Amino acid sequence: GGVVNTEFDEYYNFALKIAREGGKVAQTALKQTEKPTFVEKTCSSDVVTKTDVEVEKLLFDRIRKMYPAHSLIGEESVDTSETACKLTGNPTWIIDPIDGTSNFVHGFPFVAISIGLWIDKKPAIGIIYNLILDQMYSACRGKGATLNGEKIHVSGQTDLNKAFIMCEWGSQRVIEWATSNRDNMFSLATAPNQCHGLRSLGSSALNICMVASGCADAYYETGLHCWDMAAGILIIEESGGVCMDIEGGELDLMSRRLLCCSTPVLAKEIVKKTKPLSLKRDDEN
Ligand code: IPD
Ligand code: CA
Ligand code: CA
Ligand code: CA
Repeated sequence: GGVVNTEFDEYYNFALKIAREGGKVAQTALKQTEKPTFVEKTCSSDVVTKTDVEVEKLLFDRIRKMYPAHSLIGEESVDTSETACKLTGNPTWIIDPIDGTSNFVHGFPFVAISIGLWIDKKPAIGIIYNLILDQMYSACRGKGATLNGEKIHVSGQTDLNKAFIMCEWGSQRVIEWATSNRDNMFSLATAPNQCHGLRSLGSSALNICMVASGCADAYYETGLHCWDMAAGILIIEESGGVCMDIEGGELDLMSRRLLCCSTPVLAKEIVKKTKPLSLKRDDEN
């Protein structure tokens, strides 16, 4: 009804505003002559910079001030006393302050701030801002998805042998997940009806945006987190695409498995060609 929509509009405009504000912080850091310094988290390919922490703090501060009753999940504060990685029906802001931290460290221009708002365990708002290319992907439930204000749509591709597929190794390279992702990339690349191309941007959120805007047809990853996909799921749905579990069942935001696709037909082909890997629900760090 009207009440809900007005409420969503308010959240949407607020989320766009804080995404730009967070973007400024990261853009300023990138203007320094030195490349950003980082520290390792779980392994040498899993890194964090002070900008990740700064942006998350800024977004959390803004949200807490505006919506004190809402819940928060953010990559850099998860499992602290402040936030737990648990989705309830309460309005929950799910934030990846910098998606593509290794890109950020190297200056590879696919770095995004991802802000998802879930209400009653359903996505209401999704914002993914590529702060280097100044590309704002966004969606508000029921109102379509846009890139810098222009409507976007998935490709509608149904043939695996014509598909362009986004996939990732995962930044933690936990051996089972990396092996599973690699095996699946291999089977997609070498299937008799091999696809047009496999690409990895190093940002889950932006991989999703490629599918939403129709320049790629699918994205597949095992081992990603809820903050990598919370915003993207709505952007895909609002651009006419589908999100599901990698085995084709209903998507579970906390399952660390995602397949998103231009069409259900293509998704079915991909599910047939790839092997699932079961992950524990909790973070295994
Ligand atoms: C990572 C990136 C990467 C994906 C990993 C994520 P981060 O996020 O999105 O593309 O493969 O699964 O963890 O650590 O750069 O925010
Ligand atoms: Ca990270
Ligand atoms: Ca991420
Ligand atoms: Ca991150």
